[in-house]
Amino acid sequence: MKPLYDALRRYSSEASVVFHMPGHKLGRGFTPRGVFEDPALLDVTELDVTDDLHNPRGPLLEAQELAARAFGAGRTWFLVNGSSCGIFAMIAANCAAGQKILLARDFHYSAYNAMRFARVKPVYMPITITGTDMADAQHPARAYMPDAVLTPDSVERALFEHPDASAIYLTRPGYYGSVCDIEEITRQARRRGIPVLVDEAHGAHLIFSGRLPICALAGGADCCVQSAHKTLPAFTQCAYAHMSDRALSENPARAGRMAEALRAFQTSSPSFIFTAALDYAREYMSGQGAGDLDRLIDCCESFYADMSAAGYGVPAGIGFPSHNGMNNITKNRHGRDITRLVLSTRPVGLSGTETERLLWFKYKIKIEMSDPEHIVMITTVADNDGDFNSLRTALFEIASKNKNRKTPMNQTVLAAAQASGARAEISAPVFVEPDSTPDFIAELHAAKWFVTLGAAEGRVAADIVTPYPPGVPLICPGEIITLQMIRDIMSLQDGGIIIKGIREEDNTISVYDGWCGG
Ligand SMILES: Cc1ncc(COP(=O)(O)O)c(C=O)c1O
Repeated sequence: MKPLYDALRRYSSEASVVFHMPGHKLGRGFTPRGVFEDPALLDVTELDVTDDLHNPRGPLLEAQELAARAFGAGRTWFLVNGSSCGIFAMIAANCAAGQKILLARDFHYSAYNAMRFARVKPVYMPITITGTDMADAQHPARAYMPDAVLTPDSVERALFEHPDASAIYLTRPGYYGSVCDIEEITRQARRRGIPVLVDEAHGAHLIFSGRLPICALAGGADCCVQSAHKTLPAFTQCAYAHMSDRALSENPARAGRMAEALRAFQTSSPSFIFTAALDYAREYMSGQGAGDLDRLIDCCESFYADMSAAGYGVPAGIGFPSHNGMNNITKNRHGRDITRLVLSTRPVGLSGTETERLLWFKYKIKIEMSDPEHIVMITTVADNDGDFNSLRTALFEIASKNKNRKTPMNQTVLAAAQASGARAEISAPVFVEPDSTPDFIAELHAAKWFVTLGAAEGRVAADIVTPYPPGVPLICPGEIITLQMIRDIMSLQDGGIIIKGIREEDNTISVYDGWCGG
C-alpha cells in the first residue's frame, strides 16, 4: 500500500487545470517538456564534479552568480528548504538577540518562528484597510487581503516611535498580490541607517516585466527571499535568497552571517534536483520567460475584464486594457501584481469557499485557495490560453447559475464604503508582557494545555493560530486571546476554512497562563 503516492498520481491525472503552486503546473512549465522527465538522473550527492551548496566553488557557484545577475543582486544563495529557511537566515543575519524589528501583521508564520529562534522582538506597524466593509475592517484576516496595505506613513510613525529598531521587514507581494510602496519605505530606512528585509516569496517573477510592480531589490531593499516554486517553473521547496550590491559593500560581514545562518538552517544533503531547477528557472526566465510573462499579463488583464463583466468583484487598482493597450497597472508600479488573480465571489451570491469547491467537483479545476469572500488563483508562465478559457467558462457558468441568489447585505455596505473612500487600520494584538522577547525554546518547554475555543477569552495563546493557506497568523504565542479573535476564528471555520493551531477533533486551542519570554 502506498496511500500518499497513489493520492498524488490520482490527483495529477484527475486535475484538468491547476491554478496553484508549484509554478511549473504539473510539469508543463518545464520546456522542452522533458527537461526534468527523469529527475532520478539529477539526484546525485555533493561530489567534486557537482559542487557543494555550503561551500560552492564550481558549477553551483557559477549558477548562483548567474542568478545574482538575473535578479539584480550582489549575491544570491540557492535554498532547498523554501523561502522559510531564507527568512530564518535573513532575520538572524540582520538582527541580534533582543533587538527590535518593525513589521506589519501580514507576515507568513515562518517570520514569527524566525523571530522566536533569533530572539528578536517584533514591533507591529498598523496596516491600512481601504474601501472595505468597515464593520469587518478589524477582522485580523483583513490584514493580508487585497484591500490592505502597509503605508509609508505607518512606517514613518513606527520609525519615529522606535528609533532603536534594527530592521524593517516587509511581506511584499502578499498572498493576494498587494504591494506596498517599497521605494518610499527604503528611503525612510536609509535615512535611519537600518536595512529593509523583504519576504518576496510571491514575487520571484516581478523583475522579468516592466508591467509588474517593482521588485524588492530594484526598490532599494537590502535582502530578500523568493520562492521560485510559487511563481516560476521550479520544484516545490526551490527558493532564492538575495543580498543587494549596496548592502554587500556597506556591510560585508552581513553576507558572512547570512551564509553561516544558511549552513545552520539548510540540510547538509541538499537535493541537486532542486538546485538544478533553480538554475533552470533563472535561465528560462532570462530568455523566453520574459515574453511568456508578457503574454500571461495580457491573459490576466482580459480575464479580469471578463470576470468584472460577469459580476465578480475585482480588487481595486485593477485596470483593463484600453484602446492604446496601456492600463492602470502598467502605470502604477505599486498597485498590485496582476498575475495573482483574486475575485470576490459575494456579488455572484457565493462564498469563496463554495466557489472553490464547485470549481473542483464540477470542473476539475484546482485553485490556490479561498476565504469566505474571495478565490485566489496563482498564474505563471506555464499557464496557457486553454487553461484561462477553462477557468473563464467555469466561472461564467457559476455566475449565471447563481445570479438569482440574494446578494448578501454586506455588498451594499461595501459599495458605500468604497464610494466614500473609507479607511480603517488593523493594529497590533495585545501581548501579555509587551516588553518581552519571544523565545522558542522557553515557549516550547513551558507548561500548556488545551481549552475549548469558546472558553479561551483572556487566556494567553501558546501556539501560532493561522488559516492555511495563507499561513498569516491570526494569533501568536504570548498574545491575549480576545472575544473578537474567537469570533473571527469561528467565522472562518463556519466558512469552511481549516485553521492550523486549533485542534480539529475537539476545537481546542493551546494556552498557557504566563508569558515565558525573557
Ligand atoms: C508570504 C509567504 N512567505 C513565506 C512563505 C514560505 O515560503 P516557502 O513555502 O517557500 O518556505 C510563504 C508560503 O506560502 C508565504 O506565503
